[in-house]
Amino acid sequence: MFDFWNNYVALNYFYILSFSIIFIYRSSNVVKVGTLMKSSIEVDNLKKSYDKTRFRDRVAMLFGAKRTREKVVALDGVSFKVRKGEVFGVLGPNGAGKTTIVKILTTVLIPDSGEAKVLGYDVIKESLEVRKRIGVLPEDSRRGFGWRLTAFENLLFYAYAYLLPNPKERVKEVLKLVELEEEHWDKWYQRLSQGMKQKLALARALLPNPSVVFLDEPTKGLDIMFVAKFREMVRNKFGDEDRTIFLSTHDLRLVEGTCDRVAIINKGKIVAIKPVSELKNLVPNSIRNSYVLEVDSKSTDRLNDLVLKLKELDIEWYQVDNHKLEFLVKDGSLEVANEVLKMAINNGILVHSFHKKEIDIEEVIMRILRGGKNAS
Ligand SMILES: Nc1ncnc2c1ncn2[C@@H]1O[C@H](COP(=O)(O)OP(=O)(O)O)[C@@H](O)[C@H]1O
Ligand SMILES: [Mg+2]
Repeated sequence: MFDFWNNYVALNYFYILSFSIIFIYRSSNVVKVGTLMKSSIEVDNLKKSYDKTRFRDRVAMLFGAKRTREKVVALDGVSFKVRKGEVFGVLGPNGAGKTTIVKILTTVLIPDSGEAKVLGYDVIKESLEVRKRIGVLPEDSRRGFGWRLTAFENLLFYAYAYLLPNPKERVKEVLKLVELEEEHWDKWYQRLSQGMKQKLALARALLPNPSVVFLDEPTKGLDIMFVAKFREMVRNKFGDEDRTIFLSTHDLRLVEGTCDRVAIINKGKIVAIKPVSELKNLVPNSIRNSYVLEVDSKSTDRLNDLVLKLKELDIEWYQVDNHKLEFLVKDGSLEVANEVLKMAINNGILVHSFHKKEIDIEEVIMRILRGGKNAS
């Protein structure tokens, strides 16, 4: 029953989406955008609020309760420009308004006020023109996939809808590009792992060879090995120098590894727009160069023995918290950090995990708001 219902809902969704895409492409008359255009995306004073009145309050209103509408401000006057061929990042904590921007720019959501243009086309008045030229990896990337179609069939469906010249060849091309192994091509969508689904969604975004690609939290679910490759793919704009990439994420390291410029957003407002090379100044070295070693609870005593030996290495600072050792390495040297790991293992410590300290994006934003830079 459950299975039936889920599939019923998914299939309906699938059909509606399918027909709308076919309609858009059949009625389209693709005109190449002028190469002289400098900005790919122009956003001017965008505002958007959501109604967050609870269901029970709405019902109460029907029965005569006082009419009040609670609003949550998602975007509070956002403006920026993205150059043609640029990899532009929007970085901010959860709830900052990143997905709302992506939804407006990809014509899924209408703003309350303000203006937004993609490749010179207005996202409200000329939404069809915008849709013809963009590729989107949405935050919930499962949308629009047939659960009981294979990975290959799903993409082939979109390739036909987009009226691509050699649909099968193009599908193979993008599947190879996102490195979805051939053995998974014939698997039902619902049987793919989270990471494979994400790769497939990325392949779908690239299928029509779009001029602008929107990636909303793209590394969610991707395995670490592929994330490194993915960064490289974004950096070279999926093989087309002229392509513009708009990336939204809360991961500062992803932005550093991929973007040319970044807009930092908090509570619906842009706090700063900077070249990525300047991001370093916003994160104190004490966070940037710290590593965390987590050990098994059986090894906590040995961890205390280990820290006594750390003096031999170039460690500037350390702290032991239960079964976690956090240490700051001079210049962030990975070699020195690995020495600590080796020492731990040689001392018979059972290591759970070893990684660079996470950078708390909210802390970075607070620093910008306070005007603090170049922290130690
Ligand atoms: N459909 C919605 N209804 C009500 N509030 C929403 C809706 N979507 C987003 N919000 C709210 O708008 C704000 C911005 O959300 P979002 O754009 O998804 O942020 P981000 O992608 O940066 O995490 C958040 O406070 C969120 O709770
Ligand atoms: Mg989001």
